[in-house]
Formats: sequence, C-alpha cells, structure tokens
Amino acid sequence: MDFSFWTGEQVVVCHDRSVGLRAVIAIDDTTLGPALGGVRYRPYADAEAAIREAQRLASAMTRKNAAAGLPFGGGKAVIVDDGPVADRAALMKAFGAFVARCAGAYLPGVDMGTTPADLALMGEAGATVSCHEEDPSPWTALGVSAAIHAAVRHVDGNGTLEGVSVLVQGAGHVGASLARLVADSGARVLVSDIDADRAQRVADEVAGSVVAPDAVSTTACDVYAPCAIARVVNEQSIDALACRIIAGAANDTLADATYAGRLADRGITYVPDFVANAGGVIHIHALRAGSGQDWLRAEVLAIGERVSLVLGAAEPGVKTPLDAAEDLARAHLGRAAVAG
Ligand SMILES: NC(=O)c1ccc[n+]([C@@H]2O[C@H](COP(=O)([O-])OP(=O)(O)OC[C@H]3O[C@@H](n4cnc5c(N)ncnc54)[C@H](O)[C@@H]3O)[C@@H](O)[C@H]2O)c1
Repeated sequence: MDFSFWTGEQVVVCHDRSVGLRAVIAIDDTTLGPALGGVRYRPYADAEAAIREAQRLASAMTRKNAAAGLPFGGGKAVIVDDGPVADRAALMKAFGAFVARCAGAYLPGVDMGTTPADLALMGEAGATVSCHEEDPSPWTALGVSAAIHAAVRHVDGNGTLEGVSVLVQGAGHVGASLARLVADSGARVLVSDIDADRAQRVADEVAGSVVAPDAVSTTACDVYAPCAIARVVNEQSIDALACRIIAGAANDTLADATYAGRLADRGITYVPDFVANAGGVIHIHALRAGSGQDWLRAEVLAIGERVSLVLGAAEPGVKTPLDAAEDLARAHLGRAAVAG
C-alpha cells in the first residue's frame, strides 16, 4: 500500500448535503501555532485530487510560516466547486461550522475563489478566522515584488526593474496588484489570465501586453511570476520555459521538488514560492498582534532580504534555492520543537 501522501497531522473531510458542501481541511503541522492557511474554492476531478491538493498546500504553509518566522503552523482547506450553488452564504457558514469543530487548530484565510466576506460568514458560524476584515493580497503582492527585485539583483547585479520583462500569470487579487507594482518600478509587464477581459484590463492599466494562457510557458521573459494555479512548473512546461527567473505568489509552483534541480540545471533562478508569497501571512500576523503599518511594511519588504539569503546559500549542483529555503524553515521548526 502507498501511504506516501498520508502526511501531516490531521485531515478532515466535510460533507453537508443540505447546502451541497464538500470540503477538506488539512492540518499539516501545529508546532509553531495554529495551522494558518487559506480556503481554496475551485473544481476538483475527484475526492483524491481535492484531498491531495489540501495536503500539499498545507505542507507548503508549514514551510511558509516557519521560513517567515511567524507563530503559525501550516494548514489549508479546499471547498469543491461543484457548479452553481443555491446559497453561497449558507455554504460558507456550513464550512465555518466544520472549521469551528477543529477548535482553533485550523485558522482559515482567503485563497483562490474565496473572499474576505466568505471568511466573515465562516466566522459567523463560530470559526476563528483571518482575512475577514482586510484582503491580504496587496501585501502578498508587495512581498512578491520585493522577491523579484532581490532575484533580479542576485542574477544581474542590480535591483532595478527598468526594462526587465515580468510575465504575471493570473490577473486576480495578487497578480493585478503585482502588475501595478512592478510596472511602477519600470518593468515591462506581460499579463495572462484565463479570463481574457481581466487580462486585458490589467494589461491596459500598466501599458503592458496580454499573453494567451497556453503560451505562458513558452513566452520569453526575464521574470515569470505565477499568480494563479499550483504546479505550473511540470513535465509539460519545464523544458519549454523561456524565463530567467521564477518568482510568484502561487503556492506549490513545482509539480515535484526535483524540478528545483532541473530549473537550476537550465540556468533558471527559482525563488521558492513559500518565501516569496509570505506577505499575506505577515499581514495576518500583524493584524492579530496589533502591529502598525510601518512594522508590517518593513516585515513584508524583508522578504527581499530572505530571498537574497536563500539564493546566496544555493550552490549549483549541490544545493538548490528550494533546499536552502527548506533549511531556513526547518531551522525555525527545530528551534520551536527544542524550546517546546
Ligand atoms: N491572496 C493572497 O494573499 C495569497 C497569498 C499567498 C499565495 N496566494 C496564491 O496566489 C495565487 C493567486 O491568488 P489570488 O488571491 O490572486 O487569486 P484570485 O482568485 O484572485 O486570482 C487568480 C487568477 O488566476 C486566474 N487563473 C486561473 N487559472 C489560470 C490559468 N490556468 N492561467 C492563467 N490565469 C488563471 C483566474 O482567472 C484569476 O483571475 C493563488 O495560487 C494563491 O494560492 C495568494
């Protein structure tokens, strides 16, 4: 029997027939605190696909929160989008009731397909939630922008984005905000989204151009910023990628950890997703701790320093940036385990 995907501390499979809810809550690790991670709402081919995605994303959250030095463990939930629902509010409340049963072990936030209003509804059903008051996406985008600056500095020796082409895949909450930030820093922006109108709108706003969704992996650019779905670096795309740097917001960018080595062999600098996209969780921590905007901005921009550290610790043929980032996360987890 294959138990390889039986990872993490706890998986809760939820079903409420009355509202048409099917969902999975994956609690990967609570060593550092409650398992913080967003709720993703999208279609899945089958139950196994939904469970595995929740587990993989939850494990990435453990590394993200640990690498950022935050007092959170890692968790994630997925709600299966099974077509139009009669009452979205009832669906979100039903999900919130399942989260409440976890008694604080899982702390949900927004992710693809969910909004701060959805999180507020989960809170009404008794769950302790995050992101219900403010959307963390602009902070995630600021952190990714800092990561891109640091990666360009590492590769080219200077941190200016003047004339650098950045392909933003996914013009949603994070992607649209990131497109504006990098355009303001002088980058030439390419935008792609399966929603063609949205891609065009954002491209127009930043005087950029649109790339068709199926042309993303073959489009030449300096920086490829995945800000949509998971596992975009996969067997179909890896050999075709025509970028020099990958740094984006999408969680779980690599279909397999071994792709980190293959990207390095191809001379593509990969910024581990969980280091680049920590701005949102830093924002959540700041709100819960009552820290001010100055502290928050400084902490989010410090993602750039962490990226420099990780890329600097990588050695061709010996250690990938992913290995270096995992070392960083393990160091925090290890210290907490010893202290605990
Ligand atoms: N929102 C945050 O603060 C945050 C924090 C960390 C990580 N992330 C990750 O960043 C990614 C984007 O998050 P978001 O909040 O902007 O989501 P969003 O739902 O607002 O936007 C996602 C966008 O991607 C588009 N899209 C979907 N599939 C696509 C495809 N195959 N090709 C091109 N575009 C596609 C959608 O149409 C949508 O416009 C997600 O992977 C999420 O997990 C988000």
